[in-house]
Amino acid sequence: MNQYAGMTQAEGRNHPICDLRSDTVTRPDAGMMAAIAAADLGDDVYREDPQVNRLEASLAERLGKEAGLFLPTGTQSNLVALLAHCGRGEEILVGVDYHVNKYEAAGASVLGGIALCPLPISETGALLPEAIRAAVKPDDSHMAISRLLSLENTHNGQAISLAQTQAAADAARASGLAVHLDGARFFNGIAVLGCAEGDLAAIPDTLSICLSKGLGTPAGSVLVGPKDLVTRARRWRKMLGGGMRQAGILAAAGLYALEHNVARLGEDHARAEALAAVLRRLGAGPVTQASNMVFFTPQDGCNAALQAHLSQSGVVIGAGDSGPIRLVLHRDVSDAGLDLVTEALQRFYS
Ligand SMILES: Cc1ncc(COP(=O)(O)O)c(C=O)c1O
Repeated sequence: MNQYAGMTQAEGRNHPICDLRSDTVTRPDAGMMAAIAAADLGDDVYREDPQVNRLEASLAERLGKEAGLFLPTGTQSNLVALLAHCGRGEEILVGVDYHVNKYEAAGASVLGGIALCPLPISETGALLPEAIRAAVKPDDSHMAISRLLSLENTHNGQAISLAQTQAAADAARASGLAVHLDGARFFNGIAVLGCAEGDLAAIPDTLSICLSKGLGTPAGSVLVGPKDLVTRARRWRKMLGGGMRQAGILAAAGLYALEHNVARLGEDHARAEALAAVLRRLGAGPVTQASNMVFFTPQDGCNAALQAHLSQSGVVIGAGDSGPIRLVLHRDVSDAGLDLVTEALQRFYS
């Protein structure tokens, strides 16, 4: 499936009551807006923005890494990490459906001359050590140089266990590869796994975390990792036009989110579980749920009709013409929002 298919907002609704297309749609609440308004600012390209400096240093320390780098988006955060790890003629092993391979416009190839080698993904969302070992190229002038393994956790909401993540990293390192983790929803993964943040963060060399998804900021990601790699990533960020000036407006939102919005992610997971139960009870088609995401495939291909029906009730979903529909729970969907969706689904399927 294409997670971006059919994402256009339902006509005439700029402020839907309940938007389940993605956790990127969250808007800053009053507390976050107050933190933004109170932020003391400086020029971050000169390294003079106190909020950005605090965010980079504190998240790196929290996750046991040497350094951090604030970026406008998760795509740019992944991209500068890949460019920092790899050079022209080198390759990245990455899950075929992972965001880095599927939805980042092959930026590492376009801008860095880096090959992407897509690997099959197991049912749990993990990359298997045998698939990694089989994909690593021998030292042969006909072939790309395998340099990096790029993981994703969570993947489609699935939290991949510490053991599976470690096994994949071990297989890569045994062949001399470094490891990057696209942890766009890292804290959702931690909430499901119930492990210490540092335990998962310790596995990859570099880790990218999005602040603008379940954590609810308007924009921003942080890349953490070893000092030398983060320094290289900073140079790439500037080259890509990602050196922002008084970026502390966004970093203040990130600091607020890390303090206030991590512990509540379990609420989104509980609502996703409840929504999955409703869909199963209504016989809406095969349903799966993991962390804050629900997937179901309407059996009779009624995607467009369902999308239109829900829209009438103020519920927005992304739905292609057919195939699986992804519903994403987040901090802007309350219990009242969940009730609204439940009632609208009941009317549709009755
Ligand atoms: C797993 C994953 N990685 C990276 C990204 C990219 O984040 P952004 O939209 O901020 O570029 C996304 C976006 O949804 C994502 O789901």
